[in-house]
Amino acid sequence: MLAITLLVLCAVGTQALDNGLARTPPMGWLIWERFRCNTNCKLDPNNCVSEKLVKEMADRMVEDGYKDVGYEYVNLDDCWSDKERDAQGRLQADPDRFPSGIKSLADYIHSRGLKMGIYGDYGTKTCAGYPGSLGHLQTDAQTFADWGIDMLKLDGCNSNVTTMKKGYPEMTKYLNATGRPILFSCSWPDYERAAKIPINYTLVADNCNIWRNYDDINDSWGSITGIIDYYDKTQDTLVPAAGPGHFNDPDMIVVGDQGINVNQANAQMAMWSIFAAPLLMSNDLRNIQPVYRDILQNKEVIRINQDPAGKMGKRVLTRGPGIEVWLRPLNLWDEWGLVLYNSAAKPGTISMSLKEIGFTYGLGYELRDILSHVEIGHREIYPVYNYTVPATGVLMYYAYPSE
Ligand SMILES: *[C@@H]1O[C@H](CO)[C@@H](O)[C@H](O)[C@H]1NC(C)=O
Ligand SMILES: *[C@@H]1O[C@H](CO)[C@@H](O)[C@H](O)[C@H]1NC(C)=O
Ligand SMILES: *[C@@H]1O[C@H](CO)[C@@H](O)[C@H](O)[C@H]1NC(C)=O
Ligand SMILES: *[C@@H]1O[C@H](CO)[C@@H](O)[C@H](O)[C@H]1NC(C)=O
Ligand SMILES: *[C@@H]1O[C@H](CO)[C@@H](O)[C@H](O)[C@H]1NC(C)=O
Repeated sequence: MLAITLLVLCAVGTQALDNGLARTPPMGWLIWERFRCNTNCKLDPNNCVSEKLVKEMADRMVEDGYKDVGYEYVNLDDCWSDKERDAQGRLQADPDRFPSGIKSLADYIHSRGLKMGIYGDYGTKTCAGYPGSLGHLQTDAQTFADWGIDMLKLDGCNSNVTTMKKGYPEMTKYLNATGRPILFSCSWPDYERAAKIPINYTLVADNCNIWRNYDDINDSWGSITGIIDYYDKTQDTLVPAAGPGHFNDPDMIVVGDQGINVNQANAQMAMWSIFAAPLLMSNDLRNIQPVYRDILQNKEVIRINQDPAGKMGKRVLTRGPGIEVWLRPLNLWDEWGLVLYNSAAKPGTISMSLKEIGFTYGLGYELRDILSHVEIGHREIYPVYNYTVPATGVLMYYAYPSE
């Protein structure tokens, strides 16, 4: 009897949004961090938020190999819309910057074998002051579905945060009622955190495919480490919330932008893969150095990110100032993504055995360095080895049991 009750409770506890999407973390491109709310197409025609820019990014995704390794979504953010709704109360695109309209842009993106994401806001206005969805949630859900949208990021500026626990799930229902599967990205928990309202991640996962927990990222190492620190501090809450169909979102990938170097770029991709985080690049794919393209397209790292078990990894060891060891359990028995992360501005060495980070298999493990694509080979669990981790960087291994 007790066993049956427990089973039922567990089944309820793990019920999550069932729209068939985000079984692994979504991958794609998102305009915001790199292009922001640049609406000045007269002065800056190549970088303003416009259908031209979005089409160019879709083309680069297909022609430069991103699509082949799994990047799929091409996403607008704030500042795509007109300042007014149309006569029927529907959102409409800015007519100068999106002269063909969003439906036509979505058709173009689909014709390239990709998916299209759009942005809305749960409040009265978006963060940049464009029309918000409050009082229009059902209309906006239907409009997005009519246009062929595949993903919606719903921000939370200019709203009453205490109503989000009710309001975001309403949008989930309206999206579902359109009959079109639309991946739902919620900013809701981040607003609750900022307002010091307790976050119920069970409720969040029941209603959202991905969700932001923390501040917006920017193109700097300080921003990346700030997010990693937050995930470190809150991992006991975040890890159980994640799973196929529902993932924590530490925000965009800034690899290929100007503010971070190669070590830091590898570190972001590695940590986001341990987190089972969405890989939504925000960069200029028309103009990216090959070294960063290779980091973004590292198939061995992406394979860890996209592991079908969808389990989020966690920090298992902290050593001295700056070095942390993170482990993500993979789908096959006793296989792991292993990252040694050094937040400090000089290289650091950590001496450790595999045993002390939780590896138990008596025959030992094989390690493969998936940043350099080199087999490290067999390691017993008890001997202590030294690992030297680059300044503001990582070592990343795929570890699996020895035969
Ligand atoms: C709507 O929700 C039902 C029940 O959770 C689910 O089976 C269905 O696939 C959903 N449809 C869409 C379009 O999300
Ligand atoms: C926010 O919503 C709560 C709950 O509905 C309500 O009690 C409160 O008055 C609202 N606050 C504001 C400033 O509207
Ligand atoms: C969190 O949400 C779940 C799902 O709706 C609910 O069953 C549970 O009671 C909530 N927990 C709290 C502490 O409110
Ligand atoms: C980037 O983020 C960091 C950490 O949150 C912050 O200290 C910094 O001011 C931000 N930089 C810009 C240009 O917004
Ligand atoms: C690891 O480094 C320590 C300190 O430098 C050194 O004493 C030890 O011999 C090294 N161990 C191995 C296995 O290289």
